[in-house]
Amino acid sequence: MKVAVIGANGQLGSDLCRVLAAHGIEIAPLTHRDLEISDAAQADRVLESIRPDVVISTAAFHKVEECEKQPAQSFAVNAMGPCNLARVCGRLDALLVHFSTDYVFDGKQQRPYTETDLPGPLNVYAVSKLAGECMVPFSCRRYFVIRTGGLYGVAGGAGKGGNFVETMLKKAAEHAPIRVVNDQVLTPTFTGDLAEVVSQIIRPEVCGRTGAYGLYHITAEGQCSWYEFARKIFELEKLAVDLQPIGAAEFYSSVQRPAYSVLSKQKLNRLGLAMPGWEEGLARYLAARRAGVPQTANALAR
Ligand SMILES: NC(=O)c1ccc[n+]([C@@H]2O[C@H](COP(=O)([O-])OP(=O)(O)OC[C@H]3O[C@@H](n4cnc5c(N)ncnc54)[C@H](OP(=O)(O)O)[C@@H]3O)[C@@H](O)[C@H]2O)c1
Repeated sequence: MKVAVIGANGQLGSDLCRVLAAHGIEIAPLTHRDLEISDAAQADRVLESIRPDVVISTAAFHKVEECEKQPAQSFAVNAMGPCNLARVCGRLDALLVHFSTDYVFDGKQQRPYTETDLPGPLNVYAVSKLAGECMVPFSCRRYFVIRTGGLYGVAGGAGKGGNFVETMLKKAAEHAPIRVVNDQVLTPTFTGDLAEVVSQIIRPEVCGRTGAYGLYHITAEGQCSWYEFARKIFELEKLAVDLQPIGAAEFYSSVQRPAYSVLSKQKLNRLGLAMPGWEEGLARYLAARRAGVPQTANALAR
C-alpha cells in the first residue's frame, strides 16, 4: 500500500508519516511546497505521478481569525482543496482521507455530537470546512471524512510554537497569572493517537467492510474546558501556576466558537476501533516532548 500524506510537516501530518512508516507502510510525504491543494491542475499532476492507493490530506487554512477576514481564501483551500483531491482520487480509484472539524456544530447541544446531528457552523472557517466535507462524496467513491478537534502534536509545538500545550507552558515560564476560558468544552486530542487510529482505519480489512466508508468523528475520549485542560497540563508538569478561569465573553475574539464541541465516537467504536482518554494522550505528549521522541498508545503498549 502506498500512502500520499499531504501536509506532511504539520502536527497531524508528521505523526501520520511516523506512525505509517512504523507500520511498514510506504509513504509519499508532501509538504505545502510540493502541492497546493487549491490548485486542481497541480493536484492532478502530483498525485497522478505518485499513483497512491491512499491519499491522506491534513492541509487546511485553519487560522480562524484569518479565515473570517479572508472567506475566499478559506473556501479555496478548505472547500475547493478537498474537491480537487476527491476528483483525482476518484479517477485513480484511491481512498481519500480528509479531516474536518468539531467546529461545524453550533455547540448548543448538551451531549456528544454524532455524525447524524445537524451541523450549524458559527464562523467562516467552520462553514468552509463543512463545504469541504460535502465536496468529497461527489467525486470519490472510497473516502473517510474525519471530524476531529483540539489537536496538539509534537511537530506543531516544535515547528510553529502553535499549540495550546506549548502556549500554556510558555506562559507558565513567564510566571504571570494565566486566565483561561472555562465555558468552552471540547476534547483535546494528541495527534499521535489520532494518527494511530487513522493507520488502522485505512487497512483493507477495516475499510473494505461493507458500508465502512463515510463520515466519522474521531477525537480522544472524555471532555474538559480549556481551563481544565490547562490545569491538567500544569498538574502533570508539576508547575505551580496562578491559573484563573474566565468566561469566553471576557476573552476578546472576532470569531464565534461553539461552547460545546464534544464528538461521539460510537460509529468509530462499531468498526472495532477506539481512542484513549484525553488525559492519557496529554501524558504521552508531555513525555514525548521531554524525551524528544513522539509516542503513541500502541508504541507504549508494546
Ligand atoms: N488544529 C486543530 O486543533 C484542529 C481542530 C479540528 C480540525 N483540524 C483539522 O485537522 C487537520 C490537521 O490540522 P493540523 O493541526 O495538523 O494542521 P497543521 O499543523 O497546520 O498542518 C497542516 C499542514 O497542511 C499544510 N497546508 C496548509 N495549507 C495548505 C494548502 N493550501 N495546500 C497544501 N498544504 C497546505 C501546512 O503547510 P504550511 O504550514 O507550510 O502552510 C501544514 O503542513 C486540518 O484539516 C484541520 O482543519 C484541526
